[in-house]
Parts: sequence; structure tokens; C-alpha cells
Amino acid sequence: MSRLDSFIRRMTAQRTLLDAACAEAASLDGPILEIGLGNGRTFDHLREHLPGRRIIAFDRVLAAHLSCVPAEDDLVLGEIRVTAPRFAGIGAALAHVDIGTGNDALDRQTLEWLPDLTASLVQRGGIVVSGLPLDHPALAALPLPDSVPAERYYMYRRRS
Ligand SMILES: C[S@@+](CC[C@H](N)C(=O)[O-])C[C@H]1O[C@@H](n2cnc3c(N)ncnc32)[C@H](O)[C@@H]1O
Repeated sequence: MSRLDSFIRRMTAQRTLLDAACAEAASLDGPILEIGLGNGRTFDHLREHLPGRRIIAFDRVLAAHLSCVPAEDDLVLGEIRVTAPRFAGIGAALAHVDIGTGNDALDRQTLEWLPDLTASLVQRGGIVVSGLPLDHPALAALPLPDSVPAERYYMYRRRS
């Protein structure tokens, strides 16, 4: 498969799962977390699908398109491993976690702390959509729609 095809599959899976997660999160109170703001594309998708909801976005640096810059109070810059723990217990309805790099060694390091951190941020019954697999006892993997190939993108519900 060409890298272009692979990229398109990943983005299609991402959008499919975000749409499903937004439908679930619409009936839950609590903020939405965008962990890995990047260019702001998925931030924009989340705010379009969940209008009026608080979306807190995290990244090392601000590199988002000018039209996708979060409000100052909802933008958290710095290393996520350092900045996000202060939001533990915030009870997010939905966390979208998009900080995979495609570099297996780097991603393995990230996965040493990301599952615990993510579980601490999301309310019971809340939804996590992630580009990296999050192996954590509090996160139950949700079945993926048939159109989403296995191990392309992941969705979890925080156990109650
Ligand atoms: C794949 S991009 C996110 C793309 C974004 N969701 C979008 O749709 O435009 C990943 C982002 O996560 C950020 N990132 C990755 N690891 C990070 C870390 N440990 N701390 C802070 N930011 C991180 C990178 O700076 C990058 O902007």
C-alpha cells in the first residue's frame, strides 16, 4: 500500500471514530480534550460537531492554522507529560489523543506514560479516541465500525 493510501486510510478511520465519539459525548457533561493540537484539523472537526463545548487543546508549541487557535484559557503549551497531569480528575467527556509519531521507538516511550495519563483525564463512561493503542485496565476497547481497519485508530470507554 502506498504511503498516500495509508495516510488516507488513517484519516478516514480518524474521522469515522471522531464522529462516533462526538455522538456519544454529546450526551455527557464535561470538557473535550484535544491531546495533540498540531495543525488544528481535528480540533476544528470537534468544535464543529460539538458546538458550544469547552475544548482544551494540548501541544508542545502552537502550530495551528490561524482559524484553529483555541481560546487562550483552553490552550496548554509544553510537554504533555508535564502539563496534562494537573488536569487529572477533570472528567472529560471525550479525549482525542493524537500524538503518535510513526517512529516506533519514540511511540514506545510515549506509551510508558500516556495510558495512565489519559485514564486520569476522562470521566467514567467517557470516550477516548487514539492514534496509539492505550493498554490500561480502566479503558475498555470499543468495537470499531467495519469500515475502520484494525490497528489503524482506536476507541475506548472509561470503565465505571
Ligand atoms: C499528529 S500531530 C496532531 C494533528 C492534529 N490532531 C490535527 O488534526 O491537526 C501531533 C502533535 O502532537 C504534538 N506532540 C506530540 N508529542 C507531544 C508531547 N509529548 N508533548 C506535547 N506535544 C506533543 C506535536 O507537536 C504535534 O503537533
